Amino acid sequence: MKIGILGFGSMGKAHAYCIQNLPYFFSDSLGASIGAVCTKNIENAKKASNRYNLGFFTDNEDDIIYNDDIDIIDICTPNIYHYQTAKKAILAGKHVYCEKPLAVTYKEAKELSDLAKEHNVKCMIVFNNRFLSPILKAKELIDEGKIGKILSFSIKYLHSSALDTSKNAGWKQDKDICGGGVLFDLGSHALDLIYYLCGKFASVYGKSQIAYPKRKGVDGQEWQTNADEAFYMIATLENGAHGTIEVSKITTGANDDLRFEIHGEKGSIAFDLMELNFLDFYSVDNSDGNYGGTRGYTKIECVNRYPSPGGVFPGIKAPIGWLRGHIGSYHAFLESIVNNTYKSPSFDDGAYVQGVLECAYRSDKEKREVMISEL
Ligand SMILES: NC(=O)c1ccc[n+]([C@@H]2O[C@H](COP(=O)([O-])OP(=O)(O)OC[C@H]3O[C@@H](n4cnc5c(N)ncnc54)[C@H](O)[C@@H]3O)[C@@H](O)[C@H]2O)c1
Repeated sequence: MKIGILGFGSMGKAHAYCIQNLPYFFSDSLGASIGAVCTKNIENAKKASNRYNLGFFTDNEDDIIYNDDIDIIDICTPNIYHYQTAKKAILAGKHVYCEKPLAVTYKEAKELSDLAKEHNVKCMIVFNNRFLSPILKAKELIDEGKIGKILSFSIKYLHSSALDTSKNAGWKQDKDICGGGVLFDLGSHALDLIYYLCGKFASVYGKSQIAYPKRKGVDGQEWQTNADEAFYMIATLENGAHGTIEVSKITTGANDDLRFEIHGEKGSIAFDLMELNFLDFYSVDNSDGNYGGTRGYTKIECVNRYPSPGGVFPGIKAPIGWLRGHIGSYHAFLESIVNNTYKSPSFDDGAYVQGVLECAYRSDKEKREVMISEL
């Protein structure tokens, strides 16, 4: 399978790293390699191709999408381009691996998920956190009923990158390129994790924040901030659980701080992306007794304990990092093509999350709780 990568910024590089290193991490590396790369600037495409051995290079995505030697289109461009590119690729019969968020409107995202089914191609959205060992462990514990009926959750995804107003805004802060603000960029991950682990949303109540209404725009000129720098939500799930979601790029001291707690009738779990090798788990089944018995949160070590065919390298006790989620995600996508199986997170999941994002923005605008059924 030959893959064409569109966009070679931070995620283009992350995806290229994953493809080129799959044989180390999985016993079935699935025979994929990079055949082409496209960036907006041809010189950058040439440099990237030479440095990372990416095959032919171009500044025109059509050269890749309509090339018979390319089987898979990997979309790593800014959000506003995802819809058009993915649509062209699906119609050209290519499998598509697309970065989040899937599109910038629910209508576009739904159309893509419908087209993927109609044209019988495999399409996956990159919700890479799902493939981290502590998240897979959390999913296993929840599915096995270890925490019982879920009552509540809280999730935060915090960065500090928008605090420095002396810097130009990045495209992720500009609604005209990102399609939204921090809710799109970080919120898509947070909403997906709650959807994946706890279930579907019934309603959302959202409130956006712009702390710095004036800053330098993408081009360095004085600019009026046009997208949320932080977003706060109260959500109710179809199963009755209630929870809060906070995403922000104006949190002093934050790195890549994705944390959540999920509380059930029989137990609780807590995750922290900056403490990736562990999952905290509390069970009411632990015995009480003198001095508290064995009660209390247990730190489950998740490290590189992936079941076959993963966990091959590095050893099972080795610590993992953020890239391991991307590697697992890429493997799952390629596996779905080779075995002709449906694999989540598909474009259906991408469209679902896009719908919840849209409801959250609607709620902020109309200052009311919005039901997901209003979509
Ligand atoms: N899943 C994750 O962990 C994660 C993390 C960061 C970003 N993302 C997503 O990845 C995507 C890319 O983000 P990034 O951080 O890599 O951005 P980036 O700015 O680092 O890179 C964007 C790349 O796209 C290229 N580009 C821009 N317009 C183009 C066009 N019209 N045609 C071809 N190439 C074009 C640029 O030249 C650049 O190489 C976004 O959708 C973002 O939301 C996902």
